[in-house]
Amino acid sequence: MSGAGPGRRALVTGGGAGIGAAIVRRLRADGLAVVFCDRDGAAGHALASETSAAFVQMDGTDAAAAEALFSAHAPFEVLVNNIGADQHAFFTDTTAEDWRFLLSVNLETAFLFTRLALPAMQAARYGRLVNVASEAGRLGSKGGAVYAAAKAGLIGFTRSIARENARYGITANAVAPGPIRTPMVERAVDAVGEKILDDMAALTLMRRIGKPREVAAAVAFLASQDASFITGEVLGVSGGMGCGA
Ligand SMILES: NC(=O)c1ccc[n+]([C@@H]2O[C@H](COP(=O)([O-])OP(=O)(O)OC[C@H]3O[C@@H](n4cnc5c(N)ncnc54)[C@H](O)[C@@H]3O)[C@@H](O)[C@H]2O)c1
Repeated sequence: MSGAGPGRRALVTGGGAGIGAAIVRRLRADGLAVVFCDRDGAAGHALASETSAAFVQMDGTDAAAAEALFSAHAPFEVLVNNIGADQHAFFTDTTAEDWRFLLSVNLETAFLFTRLALPAMQAARYGRLVNVASEAGRLGSKGGAVYAAAKAGLIGFTRSIARENARYGITANAVAPGPIRTPMVERAVDAVGEKILDDMAALTLMRRIGKPREVAAAVAFLASQDASFITGEVLGVSGGMGCGA
C-alpha cells in the first residue's frame, strides 16, 4: 500500500457485505489503500481478492482483536465505523440482552476503533472519521427503539469527537442512511415479509429503497480532503426521509 499524502489509508469496519462492502469498493476505486474487517471470513476474503484491499477476520466487539489489527496495519488517516445490526421488535418485546447486544455492535465498536485510531491522527494533525449512523438515530424507529438509541448515541459521539479534535485537523461526521438494500434489509424481508420494502420506501420522499453505493459516495466525500471544512455533521442519505415524507 503506497498511501502517499494525507487521507490515503483507510480502515472500514464491517466491510464484508452491504454498505461496508460498497465503501471498500468506492475507497479503493478512489485510490485509497484500504484495510477492512468483518466477522464473515468467506465474504471478506472474496472482497479482498476482488479489490486488493487487506482483510482482517474478527469480531468488531473484540477489543484485543481490534488492538491486534492496529498493531499490524495502523496508522490510518480515514476510519469508517460501519459495523451495525438492527432489530425488528416493539420495545415491550425487547430484552436486556437485546439492549446489550445492540449497544455493543452499533456503539461500542465505534468507541473501540476510534480510541485506537485517534492518537496517530492527532500526531499527524490529519484525520477523517466517518460513522455510519441511521435516520433512526434522528427520527426514532417504530420497532427499533434500541437500535435508534444506539445510533443517536453514535451521533452524539461523532459530534463530541468533532469538538475535541478540530484543533488537530481531524474531522468527524456521520452519515444517516435511510432504507438501503443490503443483507440487513433482506433479513427484515425474511422476518416480516416483502411488504416491509413498500413500507420502507414510503418513508422516503423519493419513494424507493437506496443502494449501498449511494451511501458509499457520501462516505467517500466526507472521507476526502475536499470535505476539509465539514465536521460534526450528520448527512442523511435517505431519499429525503429526514424532511418528513
Ligand atoms: N441497510 C439499511 O437500511 C441501513 C439503514 C441505516 C443504517 N444502516 C447502517 O449501515 C451499516 C451497515 O449496514 P448494512 O445494511 O450494510 O448491514 P449488513 O448486515 O448487510 O452488513 C453488515 C456487515 O457487518 C458485519 N458485522 C456485523 N456485526 C459485526 C461484528 N460484530 N464484527 C464484525 N463484523 C460485523 C457483517 O458480517 C456484515 O458483513 C450499519 O451500521 C447499519 O446500522 C443500514
